[in-house]
Amino acid sequence: MKHLIDRLYETSTLTAAEYRELIDNRTPELAEYLFEKARDVRIRHYGHDVYLRGLIEFTNHCKNDCYYCGIRRSNCQAERYRLTKEQILECCAVGYELGFRTFVLQGGEDGYYTDEKMVDIIRAIKAKYPDCAITLSIGEKSYDSYKAFFDAGADRYLLRHETANVEHYGKLHPKNLSLENRKQCLYNLKEIGYQVGCGFMVGSPYQTTDCLVDDLLFIQELKPHMVGIGPFIPHHATPFAGFSGGTLELTLFLLGIIRLMLPTVLLPATTALGTIHPRGRELGILAGANVVMPNLSPRSVRPKYMLYDNKICTGDEAAECRQCMQRRIESIGYRVVVSRGDHKSFQKKD
Ligand code: SAM
Ligand code: FES
Repeated sequence: MKHLIDRLYETSTLTAAEYRELIDNRTPELAEYLFEKARDVRIRHYGHDVYLRGLIEFTNHCKNDCYYCGIRRSNCQAERYRLTKEQILECCAVGYELGFRTFVLQGGEDGYYTDEKMVDIIRAIKAKYPDCAITLSIGEKSYDSYKAFFDAGADRYLLRHETANVEHYGKLHPKNLSLENRKQCLYNLKEIGYQVGCGFMVGSPYQTTDCLVDDLLFIQELKPHMVGIGPFIPHHATPFAGFSGGTLELTLFLLGIIRLMLPTVLLPATTALGTIHPRGRELGILAGANVVMPNLSPRSVRPKYMLYDNKICTGDEAAECRQCMQRRIESIGYRVVVSRGDHKSFQKKD
């Protein structure tokens, strides 16, 4: 199996059958070999730098009803909130002081935030912090909405495709949502000029190796600038409450593969990874990740943005998370940098 890793390292691509073989025959020894290669590639492109993103979870209202998600519309136990523009700017102010130069505005698909309101928020952040990047993660919108946000100053957009297998997509989402539209959104975002992130949950209900192979082939086709992957973790008040979660081991293996497929990709070690293992994020960095996204949301709302059970960092202040993250990264010989942390192909903007 090492020969497949060697070829992925050299050519950044494998066939569907080879990806399947690699995933199905993985062993701890093979994983260690993969991570060494993945570290080699990330160090070549980004050294030991780890980029920080300040995550601002500005609304947990959502019109969608994804079966896996704790803030889905039908979860009437969720206590809903929205942050005002002033509250969002306050998060940015705290974050800027702490060395964040990217703010990620994430939320459910919430019609309250019209395009006009979003444009106003984006412009206000950019006016105050012209040296910072804005990443949006607010779901599926029209081409024109994406264009309006981009023209207002948004730089990047995260929209996980969730699964690239049509049947699997149908098992994770109600009928009004389609993989076709999700993919079209990603292509639109790319065309407009965003740094684009897709991604998926590892170990989501009904996921098979074939689904993962479809995910890898889609990533190979889209060539995103960022890939967000993390384990699926069940939430008690969703239809998937009774399913088991994704594993650390498979998530790390896939992080390593993705680093070799897209050598310059911005790859976060996610909060979900830190939730299923106390050193999940550090292990993610050691498997090839180069981004971490500490929480900048006001402490009062953090427990309400509960996508899955036992989410970490819901009781901490932003400064505590920032310090904790720095210690964690330094403990494995990497360093947190104060920078926008653009994808290599966009770094002229720095
Ligand atoms: N509404 C936006 C969207 O659809 O892209 C952004 C918010 S959504 C909650 C962000 C991501 O959380 C999703 O793309 C999904 O992969 C992840 N997520 C939701 N529920 C999860 C769960 N139970 N376990 C792990 N990740 C989950
Ligand atoms: Fe939040 Fe460690 S990153 S407590």
